[in-house]
Amino acid sequence: MSPRQLLPLAPDPHASRSRMTCRFRCGNACDHPEPNLSGNTHIQDLLTHAVARRSVLGGAAAGSATLVVGGLVRPDAATASEARAESLTFDPVAPNRRDNVTVPVGYDYDVVIAWGDKVNEGAPRFDVYDQTPEAQAQQFGYNCDYVSVLPIPGKRGRFALVVNHEYTDEFLMFPTGRYSANQIRRIAMMAHGMSVVEIERGRRPGSYERVRPARTSLNRRITVATECRLTGPAAGDRRLKTSADRSGTRVLGTLNNCAGGTTPWGTVLSGEENFNQYFEASAGLDPRYVESYERYGIEAEPDDGRGWRKVDPRFDLSEEPHEPFRFGWILEVDPFDPSSTPRKRTMLGRLKHEGATIALSDAGRVVAYTGDDERGDYMYRFVSRRRFRDSGTAADRRHNMQLLDHGTLYVARFNDEEEDPAPEYDGVGRWIPLCSDRESFVAGMSVADVLIDTRLAADKVSATRMDRPEDVEVNPVNGKVYAALTNNSDRGTEYPADEANPLESSMVREEFGGPLVTASGNRNGYVLEMTPRGGNHGAERFDWVLMLVCGDPAAPETYFAGFPKEQVSPISCPDNVTFDRRGNLWISTDGNQLGSNDGMFAVPTRGANRGKVQQFLTVPLGAETCGPLIARDGQTVFNAVQHPGEIDGATFENQASTWPHTDRFPRPAVIATYRVDGGRVGR
Ligand code: FEO
Ligand code: CA
Ligand code: CA
Ligand code: CA
Repeated sequence: MSPRQLLPLAPDPHASRSRMTCRFRCGNACDHPEPNLSGNTHIQDLLTHAVARRSVLGGAAAGSATLVVGGLVRPDAATASEARAESLTFDPVAPNRRDNVTVPVGYDYDVVIAWGDKVNEGAPRFDVYDQTPEAQAQQFGYNCDYVSVLPIPGKRGRFALVVNHEYTDEFLMFPTGRYSANQIRRIAMMAHGMSVVEIERGRRPGSYERVRPARTSLNRRITVATECRLTGPAAGDRRLKTSADRSGTRVLGTLNNCAGGTTPWGTVLSGEENFNQYFEASAGLDPRYVESYERYGIEAEPDDGRGWRKVDPRFDLSEEPHEPFRFGWILEVDPFDPSSTPRKRTMLGRLKHEGATIALSDAGRVVAYTGDDERGDYMYRFVSRRRFRDSGTAADRRHNMQLLDHGTLYVARFNDEEEDPAPEYDGVGRWIPLCSDRESFVAGMSVADVLIDTRLAADKVSATRMDRPEDVEVNPVNGKVYAALTNNSDRGTEYPADEANPLESSMVREEFGGPLVTASGNRNGYVLEMTPRGGNHGAERFDWVLMLVCGDPAAPETYFAGFPKEQVSPISCPDNVTFDRRGNLWISTDGNQLGSNDGMFAVPTRGANRGKVQQFLTVPLGAETCGPLIARDGQTVFNAVQHPGEIDGATFENQASTWPHTDRFPRPAVIATYRVDGGRVGR
């Protein structure tokens, strides 16, 4: 029987993710046709049916081992930690539907900071019945996502906690009837953005506490009103100019900040993701930009539009057709200077950036990897023109803070050469240059065209359409690049499978404890492992293998790097990845398709336990696991618990979750998980 004959009737493309999450976070992206109409496939797509039926037998792609240098990865001899990485010791958490964070026996967690907590000293105490835009602009924002923890130079035991606030859920945040629609819009605007909060070690080893705002000058909120600067080759382009900014270089705010990255020079990168949903048109669209708008999902009348144009006309496309070109960038923030102006780095392209993470090429150039989180969109890489300087002086830091403005932007194409005779989901790939800061490599497009309409540029060079590329990060021990391909309900129906995106159907559970049923598309996602040729992040070629084909181990299509399936935890919809210092891969999930709450998982990347996926924690009902980070001392796992209680039908008065159980409503929060006995996590 072919996979298609097993398809259930019209499965909901949103699947088990709450429709509220779809509405508020990504503007119901799944309800819309995909914005990628390029028809890009490649020769391997023609093999789709053969490919989709292949069994997954592969092991690791070969690659040279590497050594961590100052937090960056350089090729080098084999490391001594190779063998130690094989074991990760904790009792896995079972799938569940609890309204709580569930951690392994012998572990505990604390809330470090939650929605509404004071960030600035002048912030009023949080009162859900007395919210104002002014208060929210000084309090911790909603729906925390990316989490970075940077040691503060010269302050032992003190850290800058930097957090994204991706989006708001007005149904859960506001008591019914208490606020006007425009009050809600103004408060929600201020709940977006980022927070910088000074934290210190807590009393228990591995725990952390907030430093009182009066005792720090570091704390900062970045909101939709914070002035940001556009830099790099596209800055000042006519499409970036508005009536409020004739220079095309000064933008108010940042939107839908999803994941991010931390640079070796101590700044934080933040991805502007589903920015399209904040715009509407009161009187039609500028015909010059219709193609671009469509490619980014920008619509005159979005379903469930947020109506922000009613309180700020710059969100009205009819008034300010250029405003949406000022979002969709990677933002760079200096967390140690609260008065610094965040920079939007146009050289990294404009797309729905999940995040951006940094590695170093053999030549000492900075490499940034970034995924465009949309069904059927692409993966990108940037390589800097100038070299990283690692002396740590202020002058070198200033030099490094310019690196992302000059270089070359590439998009990934998988299997563009020879047919791969092996039966594994593996192959070779190539980075296709789109433009440098000096020259465009795409016919008919200028450098600014490529950077502003990056998706349209990538369409023209036959990039490979991926199953929603989310986090792309480099393993600090083996130097390989890991990408979470979260899912794609359209794969196999809108366009065929290919070797890197092989599933046209997959097995899900429609409810917790229910039977496995087959659904169309790739529902549970993959973890892709890429090995730059020669271990050099500046190389044009890479080898790749699907390390994990996620899902329930009982489903035949799943694959865990060859590890015995009966010993792994079910995992669904990998979203963000991070690593411990032994090179183990930690994965957080978003939108579990197996009926359970989302969670955080750990898996060795090599040795006899490569592929042994174990669930480390689960988050409360309706929540997604974000911001995964393992502290450098190995004693703490940080997570952002995003959108607890975001379950269809929930309202402020009828909440599905009250986590963290301090109030009668849920409060998205950053948590720190640690071992009760003070030991290192996973040992
Ligand atoms: Fe914000 Fe790609 O999830
Ligand atoms: Ca996601
Ligand atoms: Ca990550
Ligand atoms: Ca996410």
